[in-house]
Amino acid sequence: MKFVVTGGAGFIGSHLAKSLINEGHTVTIIDNLNTGKIENLKEILSQVDFVNGDIRDIELLKNKLKDADGVFHEAALASVQESFSKIKEYNDVNVGGTENILKLAKEFGFKIVYASSSSIYGNPAKIPIEEDDPKNPINPYAQTKLDDESLAIKYAHMGVRVIGLRYFNVFGERQSKTYAGVIKKFVKKVRNNEPPIINGDGKQTRDFVYVGDVVQANILAMKSNVDHGFFNIGTNSTITVLELANLIIDAFGLSLKPVHGPELPGDVKITKADISRTRKMLNWEPKTRIEEWLKSTIAAKTNLDLITD
Ligand SMILES: NC(=O)c1ccc[n+]([C@@H]2O[C@H](COP(=O)([O-])OP(=O)(O)OC[C@H]3O[C@@H](n4cnc5c(N)ncnc54)[C@H](O)[C@@H]3O)[C@@H](O)[C@H]2O)c1
Repeated sequence: MKFVVTGGAGFIGSHLAKSLINEGHTVTIIDNLNTGKIENLKEILSQVDFVNGDIRDIELLKNKLKDADGVFHEAALASVQESFSKIKEYNDVNVGGTENILKLAKEFGFKIVYASSSSIYGNPAKIPIEEDDPKNPINPYAQTKLDDESLAIKYAHMGVRVIGLRYFNVFGERQSKTYAGVIKKFVKKVRNNEPPIINGDGKQTRDFVYVGDVVQANILAMKSNVDHGFFNIGTNSTITVLELANLIIDAFGLSLKPVHGPELPGDVKITKADISRTRKMLNWEPKTRIEEWLKSTIAAKTNLDLITD
């Protein structure tokens, strides 16, 4: 089949594009290399149609999306901290760009599976978080992701097939600074025998989900006969930031003590996904746990640059 991956030179998009190629599909990637890198595609570059382009450019999108069977929409500006100072740009890319793709899906009939975010829940009223729980974005980035969901609902009412996957904190090889940045920062420090610096008390919990599992969720969602809906993509388990720091220190066989700095504004305190709906409707199950992945990656040493670069 013919698929387009927006943001395909980024962390999640590049893993997704590789899996689609491995499954024998034809893949076009649209990415303006804002945070994405060509080197993320080095294993598949000769097998994909790579377009250095912007999702705000509707004519370019039209040209590339008109004969697609499906679009995996990963492109976005995704830094919570940066979103406070670039509200308009975040809105133009994340909301305007997504609406462009929805408009074209209405015109051409392809299915969309796109990256929503657990950040739309803000600080949740209860744990674990179910999809119908209240949405309370606490930063401009999260607001753009919630606005995308309103647009997705609007276009679904017009017959567009669109599924939003609410990723929790995605980790893995080539992870981006945004969500699993804490892993990156800690490993960087600890491998240099320096103590990791925790923002706040370290009691904030995170539900880390492996990028390979996220890729599977995307592919299952695209192939499923579910036309529309929103699904949590997490693991239903959590680790505190302090536990994470200590796990990394232990995995390196060191006895450092984490240092505490000030809390970050806009930082969510607790997250944990209820994934019953995703399990049931998409037949999806996360397979890789952060603890084991970190221990084996740190022990193997070979992949460490893929975590910290
Ligand atoms: N990584 C996570 O834990 C996480 C969690 C929740 C949601 N998400 C969402 O998942 C998606 C992928 O995130 P990621 O972690 O791979 O981040 P990433 O920054 O690695 O990937 C985003 C990609 O989009 C591209 N891009 C940005 N603006 C663009 C534009 N105007 N036109 C074309 N391409 C553009 C970037 O160059 C980059 O390659 C994003 O939509 C993000 O909001 C990620």
